[in-house]
Order: sequence, then C-alpha cells, then structure tokens
Amino acid sequence: MAFRTIKGTHDILPEDSAHWQKLERIIHHTAARFGYSEIRTPIFEDTSLFSRSVGEDTDIVSKEMYTWEDRSGGSLTLRPELTAPVVRAYIQHNLGSKSPLQRLYYMGPLFRRERPQKGRQRQFHQFGIEAFGSEFPEQDAEIIAIGHTIFSELGLKDISLKLNSLGSGECRSQYTHALKNYLSPLKDQLSSTSQQRLETNPLRILDTKNPDEQNLIADAPTIADYWTADDKIHFSTVQQLLNELNIPFEIDYQMVRGLDYYTRTTFEFISGNLGAQDAICGGGRYDGLVETLGGKPTPAIGFAAGMERILMSMDFDNNSTEHNTVYLINLVESARGQALSMANELRELGYNVITDTLRRSLKAQLRDANRIGALKAVIIGEEELKNETVQIKDLSSGEQNEIAINELVKHFTI
Ligand code: HAM
Repeated sequence: MAFRTIKGTHDILPEDSAHWQKLERIIHHTAARFGYSEIRTPIFEDTSLFSRSVGEDTDIVSKEMYTWEDRSGGSLTLRPELTAPVVRAYIQHNLGSKSPLQRLYYMGPLFRRERPQKGRQRQFHQFGIEAFGSEFPEQDAEIIAIGHTIFSELGLKDISLKLNSLGSGECRSQYTHALKNYLSPLKDQLSSTSQQRLETNPLRILDTKNPDEQNLIADAPTIADYWTADDKIHFSTVQQLLNELNIPFEIDYQMVRGLDYYTRTTFEFISGNLGAQDAICGGGRYDGLVETLGGKPTPAIGFAAGMERILMSMDFDNNSTEHNTVYLINLVESARGQALSMANELRELGYNVITDTLRRSLKAQLRDANRIGALKAVIIGEEELKNETVQIKDLSSGEQNEIAINELVKHFTI
C-alpha cells in the first residue's frame, strides 16, 4: 500500500519552500522592527486550556479539536490556536513581572478537524502577534499596523480591513441577551444550526451566510447600542489612530469572531482573491483571558494570520533565478577530493555551490546547471587537470574561458 498524507494535511515541497522562507523572513524582520520577540510553545496542551479560553460552545472546541486521553489519564489536545498557549506561557513564566509590556510573536502548525476545502486545512500554519499589558487604544493601532505592514511588504493586493468592537464583558452579555430576545420569536425561521446556536452561542448567528437569516438579522439590535461610554471612547480612538496611520478600514457590526475570549476591538483582514475562505487574519482584544486562565488581570490584544492563505494570495515571480549559484563540474576521478575542496572555497566566498554526485556526463551536468539557473559552471577535465587550469562557463552568455586553478578564488572574489 502506498502511504499518502492524511485528509486535510499537505506536504510543503522544495518548489514551494522558498516562498515559505520568504514569508517567514518578512515576519521575523517586521516583528523585530516593532520590538516583538518570538515565543515557541508545544504542539499539544491540556484540553481544558482550550475549552476554558476559546469556549465550550464554539465550533473549534465542540467539534474540531484533535483530542485524546493520555496514558496517564489526562486529556490532551493538538493546539487548534495559539493565543491560549501563549497566555498559558505568559502566566507560567511570570512574564508580566519581567516587563509591564510583553510583545510576543509566533509561527507554527495548528490542527482543526474542519471540512477541507480551498484555504481550509486540518493542519495549517499561522503566524501571530500578541501584546500583553496595555489597555490603551494605541496598542490596538500598533497591532493592526503590524498586520498592515506585513501584508504590504508581501505585496498583497485587494486586502480590506474589517473592524468592530464587542465591547467590554458587561456589554457583550447584555447584547447576547438582547439578541436572544429578538431572535427567539423568529426561531422557526432559523436553520437547525442557528436554532442550536440560539441556545449555546447566539452571537455566532450573526456570522450566517444564509440570505434569509441575513434578512432577519438586518433588523436585529446591534452591538453598538450596548457599548459603555468607555467602550465608545476606546473604539473611536482606535479609528482615529488608524486614520492617522492611513490604514483604511470599514466597520462591520456583524463581525463576531469564532472564539469566545474577545472584548472590545476585533478585526479581520480579508483578501478579495481567495473565494469563500477569505479571512487571511483575525484578532482582537482579550482583556479578561489572562485572569480567566489563572493570571493577574492583564489587558491584551493580538491577531493570527493563516500562512497558507497568505501564500495563496501572493504573486510569485516564477522566473526568479538564483544568481548566486555556481555549478562545479568535475569529470576526473582522481580530482574528486580537489573538486570538493574547490566547492568549499567558493562557498566561503558566499556562493551557493552545487556539485554532481551522480557522476553524470558533461552534457547532463550543464543541462542541470541551466535548469537550476546557475550563474556559472566551473569545469575540470583531464586536459585542465594536466595544465592546472579550469574552464569557466558563463551560463547566460555561453562564453567560456580557461583560467589557472590558483586564479579561481580571485576570479570569483566579488
Ligand atoms: P482564527 O480567526 O481562528 O483566530 O484564525 C486566524 C486565521 O487562521 C484565519 O483568519 C485564517 O487565515 C487561518 N485559519 C484558521 N483556520 C484555518 C484552517 N482550517 N485552514 C487554513 N487557515 C486557517 C485565531 O486563531 C486567534 N487565536 C487569533 C488571535 C490571536 N486573536 C488574538 N490573538
């Protein structure tokens, strides 16, 4: 039987890894420019870390987690998201006592047992940013600006930013109650999923894609009616700061995120060229989560972005060749050691050097050198060895010159 990847999981093949590395480089670089440090947490955690933070009634916790009972009896889960693990680490290592403002970022694989489709996988990757300690709107603006900067540097086109505020905890529970009161008499007109959500998590009904339900919701009370005075000031300041930063956004009162820990500002960056799974990034404030998970009350805000979705919406120049590669062709058995040392000398000068270990013909090796877009080929044949020379072939012009072996380093010194 030939083994294959499990449904909803993918290999990242060599032809794509250069794109991943480019994305990773831009993330590391931008995070550092904003003063954020990387955190790496384990792939699996205690199951209750997620049920207590993301929420028992969310899709993620109620049906998408990969959970198993450990041999020692506890319940473990492959992480479906990274905010809760980062909060766990923040509390466990008392990071708040090291600095009143902790700015962290991460990258890595996550696991959700969703129905696979374009842009939706069961193992996928996110990078994310989390800032702990500041309750002020300038922190919200900074977090959103990091996303905006990274997506601009990647050259993503047709990206829009949707913004909402879910208000403080108090506002959210009053609004949930009001929405339930509004929708309960209309229950018969709701789908079975929404009828269930009416009991467990009414806010999620706002997310519906069903046009009949969208019509019903159009007249529902909006979250904005329930904001406290402080919620209003916070949200309008965030908007003002984004305007000053020239970051365009639109307000969407019906944007409720699929995780329960949010308070106040929530946002999503949407890509216009991805189809149904169009959110490349989502995030918001979670001012109560550190306390819920056993830490001191600590305001916090962050986002996570799906790396596969970002790569799908990027334009890559497929003709970009590696201008720094030299192909070293040795055709003489007794010169194998010498050829390997020559390759190392060129690597020390900063070149990528490829040597053939299949003992192929000159013609086959030159074909391979052209295929990978090498700059030059260095050729050692019987004649050259006798004369203590090598041939240098420029692979774009086809021009070939003979030089003395002891001139090689000088020839390649840039
Ligand atoms: P999320 O909205 O569940 O938020 O996920 C963030 C992003 O991960 C989505 O916008 C999407 O790009 C990507 N994503 C999610 N599920 C999949 C999937 N099955 N396949 C491919 N990509 C996917 C969170 O995870 C929060 N922890 C974000 C956050 C950080 N909030 C505050 N800090």
